[in-house]
Amino acid sequence: MRNLIDIKDLTVEEIDELITVAKDVMQSPEKYAEKCKHKTLATLFFEPSTRTRLSFEAAMLELGGNVLGFSEAASSSTAKGESVSDTIKVVGGYSNIIAMRHPKEGAPLVASLKSDVPIINAGDGGHNHPTQTLTDLLTISCEKGRLDNLTIGLCGDLKFGRTVHSLITAMVRYSNIKFVLISPEELKIPEYIKEEILEKNHIEYIETSDIEEHMDKLDILYMTRVQKERFFNEEDYVRLKDYYILNKSKLEKAKSDLAILHPLPRVNEIATEVDDDPRACYFKQARYGKFIRMALILKLLEIK
Ligand code: NCD
Repeated sequence: MRNLIDIKDLTVEEIDELITVAKDVMQSPEKYAEKCKHKTLATLFFEPSTRTRLSFEAAMLELGGNVLGFSEAASSSTAKGESVSDTIKVVGGYSNIIAMRHPKEGAPLVASLKSDVPIINAGDGGHNHPTQTLTDLLTISCEKGRLDNLTIGLCGDLKFGRTVHSLITAMVRYSNIKFVLISPEELKIPEYIKEEILEKNHIEYIETSDIEEHMDKLDILYMTRVQKERFFNEEDYVRLKDYYILNKSKLEKAKSDLAILHPLPRVNEIATEVDDDPRACYFKQARYGKFIRMALILKLLEIK
């Protein structure tokens, strides 16, 4: 039985396959409409979500399957003190596959050790978010036509932003990838990502706090929200939350084929005036998320 806890649980070839299936789903959705008949996906969200949970549910429904779950810990037996392991054991009896989001780093990994059905990590604290990364890879593949030879700017909360950590981990496996890491001093990428992922793989990267400095070199600009829920004090959050606001003038030197991504939700980090720019891909990106999750569910349930 396979789980998806970390993006590296999938080989590059398997990711290619998922992208191919997702593109086929987009082309011919009718072929997939009954693939998961009589199968049930449980979404256990111990932390808020809109896109991730609803796109998982939409994915399963479009595969002809069923969905059940909860969207906040307060409405589950966690509020009574039940352990994650017990919850997983129970829910595994009602479902064939589980997507789980949890504020604690490593919770989905622990769950997977106890589970009788495949577990998908739908975000664990400030750690990882592999299905957002699959969404990002499908978006890059569709919008840029390649996953190699890219200079990628990652901007905002690189410290707590789990989507950034998973995306870097995934991208270093493709050739000629360079990163521009744009963040305020306090929200820099964690040392373990630099040492164990970037440096170990001899990846070229620059750290800066200036969003415009390397704008002209970027093929992708990945904006992120300052992760309010991971801050220890409100004051720091308030000081940092509007550090970057991408607007038309900041894009002046950007390439004409830049792709602007954001995992969403957006707070203030992209001005709404950018939404009409043909380079803005973030709403399309959210749509791609459903198709890649359809491909992932099929893979983990071993349905051809
Ligand atoms: C991201 C997350 O939950 O980490 N959102 C998402 O899954 N689309 C990013 C965020 O919350 O800022």
